Amino acid sequence: MKHINTSFIIGLLLATFIISTDSFSQTYGQNGMVVSDNAVASQVGTDILKKGGNAIDASIATAFALAVTHPQAGNIGGGGFIVYTDATGKSTTIDFREKAPLLATAEMFLDSSGNLVKGSNHEGLKSVGVPGTVAGLYLAHQKYGALPWKDLVQPSVDLAEKGVVLSYALAEHAKNFNASSSSKPQFLKDYYKKPNGEVVKFGELWVQKNLAETLKLIRDKGKDGFYKGAVAQEIASFMKANGGIITLEDLAKYDAIEREAITGTYKDYGIVSMPPPSSGGVAIIEMLNIMEQANLDSIPFNSTQYVHLVAETMRRAFADRAEHLGDPDFNLEMPLERLTSKEFAKMRYENIDMNRASVSDSLKFGQLYDGPNTTHLSVVDKAGNAVSLTYTIEQSYGSGLGSPKLGFIFNNEMGDFNPQPGYTDTGWLIGTNPNIIQPEKRMLSSMSPTIITKNGKPYLVIGSPGGRTIINTVFQTILNVIAYDMPIEKAIEAMKIHHQWFPDQITFEKDLMSPDTQLNLIQMGHTLKGTNNLGRLMGILIPTDGDVYIGAADSSSPDGGAVGY
Ligand code: GLY
Repeated sequence: MKHINTSFIIGLLLATFIISTDSFSQTYGQNGMVVSDNAVASQVGTDILKKGGNAIDASIATAFALAVTHPQAGNIGGGGFIVYTDATGKSTTIDFREKAPLLATAEMFLDSSGNLVKGSNHEGLKSVGVPGTVAGLYLAHQKYGALPWKDLVQPSVDLAEKGVVLSYALAEHAKNFNASSSSKPQFLKDYYKKPNGEVVKFGELWVQKNLAETLKLIRDKGKDGFYKGAVAQEIASFMKANGGIITLEDLAKYDAIEREAITGTYKDYGIVSMPPPSSGGVAIIEMLNIMEQANLDSIPFNSTQYVHLVAETMRRAFADRAEHLGDPDFNLEMPLERLTSKEFAKMRYENIDMNRASVSDSLKFGQLYDGPNTTHLSVVDKAGNAVSLTYTIEQSYGSGLGSPKLGFIFNNEMGDFNPQPGYTDTGWLIGTNPNIIQPEKRMLSSMSPTIITKNGKPYLVIGSPGGRTIINTVFQTILNVIAYDMPIEKAIEAMKIHHQWFPDQITFEKDLMSPDTQLNLIQMGHTLKGTNNLGRLMGILIPTDGDVYIGAADSSSPDGGAVGY
């Protein structure tokens, strides 16, 4: 799928400092680069770089801008992760994953017989985790920002207050929310309406006055503008009035955490990624370690052997993920060193039969549910500092709920916990302990913001939305760049597969795998399921031999864009 950017976005991109593009639609910059799911937001970030902001500043401004221009996943009502590697190779991460409210219980989504009430963990105000985004961006700024906080929030206030031209993709959402068949919550039906009640159309100006007022409080009061005062009061009273359980105490207690990055190597490259409560970093390092065992020179990209080996690698990493990973503040004994060690990968690799699919053991571990809608942004500044930021409200438009007075959407991230303790099946449910609901626990995530280093310095900044598929699409893009020598855009667009232990099947991009390969894989015992697209990757490559940054936004992102200067 190629970009369906609106004429507005094309105009905006032409007006910026894109230096040139080649046949893969890569964007080149000499001084800095921002790539995100929305070209307007990428422009906001690049403007901050031009004003002397560093990569952390630009990522904060871009994240706030996405909360206005990309509301299906950009947010102040959700949570996420920042992975940061500075120009000298020093790395850290910021964990701003949502938390379970104090009143949450392990059984909160079960009926009186102890079974999951289907859908309940993703619906209604009980599905909302205590938001972390504002606290995370604020902590990142306090520790590593350069420009004043207000300068980073102001562009998003302007976008909300003065309005943005509605893109074709968002206009289609607006239309669908208001179709007569739509069962969406009223909050979403009203989300794209003008004060006169008409739905905003493609190309019209879309103004969000109430969101602008919320953002002004965050601009003026920092973290406290969200977690204390008028915004917190309104969140708590809205929750109380409508069956939610988040209180003022939950909001006041919320803190983002700086955590040591999880690191590994693939041949001469360093891997810097997000540790738990993300499962992404551990799984990506485990999978790259397994792939390192194979001689990829004799396994061509997209061949039957390639797909088989990659799928078997994923199967093993996802089983380990389900067994071991959860919030590190509640799971003190997670074997992270072992899971990311070369010895463990060797053992995992040695039991792969290169001629036959193995079978996922239904009595052991199932899959974790993660929503498909999340968003990623990558930033590099003039000095070479790099930020990989992924954040989410879980499903597209999260819970679909929010206080009209505040103008932002609440996540439905409680759905990322294992909802039925002790119950695991071969379909969608897993009941393993590390990720059972507990008050103040962070739900396990698949978000995988990652930075690959070469000679100790940032080389590739990459991430994606896509629920559990995030881990696998990021893993394959890294492999495409560093093992299969693809340019960044080609690596992003190239055929991807997804296997997650359960269901025991390979999901693949159906137009990009040959029918012969499909037949071969079936004969080896694999079950296949075609899909149109996997991942929406946003990447920046920093070649070591020149002063250039190469950005690429996945063509499956209708409004996405790389903006460099
Ligand atoms: N909600 C998607 C994730 O955290 O992986």
